[in-house]
Amino acid sequence: MEAIAAGRILPVVVLHDARAAAPLGAALIAGGARSVEVTFRTDAATDAIGALSGNPDLLVGAGTVLTTAQVDRAVEAGARFVVSPGFSPAVVHHCQALGIPIFPGVASATEIQMALDAGLDTVKFFPAEQLGGVAMIKALAAPFRSVRFIPTGGVNPANLRDYLTQPAVLAVGGTWMVAPDLITAGRWDEITDLTAAAVFAAREC
Ligand code: 3PG
Repeated sequence: MEAIAAGRILPVVVLHDARAAAPLGAALIAGGARSVEVTFRTDAATDAIGALSGNPDLLVGAGTVLTTAQVDRAVEAGARFVVSPGFSPAVVHHCQALGIPIFPGVASATEIQMALDAGLDTVKFFPAEQLGGVAMIKALAAPFRSVRFIPTGGVNPANLRDYLTQPAVLAVGGTWMVAPDLITAGRWDEITDLTAAAVFAAREC
């Protein structure tokens, strides 16, 4: 949690080939990222988490985790935190039983109350832009003063500062610096540059 709060930028990665994990990790670290979320949207996720988590400079988490079985696979592979797109009591309770930080997705006041009931105060806000972006976060933060959000979905270099200057925003997540076409084409320098720009912007907020 502290590492994510300190870096404030959480790259969300979809890797189709785990062999890309090593150069990707190096590119992210070169850009100043200190954490990464590897999504369970591909069969390569477990191997990619394994490859990346060997890196002491990177906090590696698993994203798009929908089942307790995926939690187990992620943790076994070395994931240090878990993110899910929505609020699954089963996934949340399983992570808590294992002692692994879980950031469930919320999209409404009701889901935030579910998170609070589960003892959580940091949630992913997904899909952020489609839900109303910063205005929605402000509205939700008013009654839920202890809650910190990680908005993800539609965050980009143009709106990054708007999110990060919100006191209720712990960090932002997104794919813009690790877009699938950049990874497929092995454009590691570009990934480093986009990451560095985001990290720099976050430091200024
Ligand atoms: C996620 O998995 O959190 C989102 O799909 C990332 O959204 P983005 O591609 O708009 O950054």
